[in-house]
Amino acid sequence: MKNKSLVSIDDLSTDEILKILELAGDFESEPERKLLAGKVVATLFFEPSTRTRLSFESAINRLGGRIIGFADSSTSSVSKGESLKDTIKTVSNYCDLIVMRHPLEGSARYASEISRVPIINAGDGANQHPTQTLLDLYSIKKTQGTLDNLNVFLVGDLKYGRTVHSLMMAMARWKTTFNFISPEELKMPEEYKLYLENIGLKYYEHTDFTDIISKADIIYMTRVQKERFSDPIEYEKVKNIYVLRNSMLKNTKPNLKILHPLPRVNEIHTDVDENPKAYYFEQTMNGVYVRQAILCSILGVL
Ligand code: CP
Repeated sequence: MKNKSLVSIDDLSTDEILKILELAGDFESEPERKLLAGKVVATLFFEPSTRTRLSFESAINRLGGRIIGFADSSTSSVSKGESLKDTIKTVSNYCDLIVMRHPLEGSARYASEISRVPIINAGDGANQHPTQTLLDLYSIKKTQGTLDNLNVFLVGDLKYGRTVHSLMMAMARWKTTFNFISPEELKMPEEYKLYLENIGLKYYEHTDFTDIISKADIIYMTRVQKERFSDPIEYEKVKNIYVLRNSMLKNTKPNLKILHPLPRVNEIHTDVDENPKAYYFEQTMNGVYVRQAILCSILGVL
């Protein structure tokens, strides 16, 4: 991984993924290690973020690195009409690595082709969010003891949700049984289903999951991505289609964990938060350790 960009989860071999998860475990035991002393990391967020930006910045601070960048591109020369190309060519002269979130699908790949330093994709439109996937894998392995042969429910906006696209591609390596639960309008795109068919993996599509919830090892809830809808009326139709409530968890497996990349809107009722099967806030903490492992691997300091 040294000096390589991380744009898609498929940029990583299975061995590289497992190595990141192992290193993340080491950082969980000992997070304060000044391995990035003398390194400068730029965080360029062209779209809003709480967890991804702040967990990256927490990881960089804990590693003794320094941070430049913006959380709001309207404060940069993008607001004067500067192109992404010129922004990346410029900022890559100021730092050792760029973490970038951008609304356009393919923007991270494009940035990686013109940057003189590695790019980490912190989310490009509805396409990919590979560092979220690595922290999701860490959370799944930590709670289930394995990544093999799990029954994973992906619920909600499977069309626009970049986290489910990356997670599906990653979990496919461990013989996962996938249940895709979404309204017709927000089904998993054909290209991702074809990806599973080509490797001979089964998936099941549903519009409701109350009758099958007892089979789940992982329920991965997602927010309906309001910002990706061109028609607000279409968003209104589906925005509250799934609400997971504590009462629905009565007959679920003892090992079940509920994950969510967050932010949530209404799709997990707050009465689930105190249930030991709710894992979404621990999941956010895992993001720091996993991002420490990613930064150190790409910057070649481990
Ligand atoms: N999970 C995630 O990407 O959250 P943010 O949008 O807050 O970064």
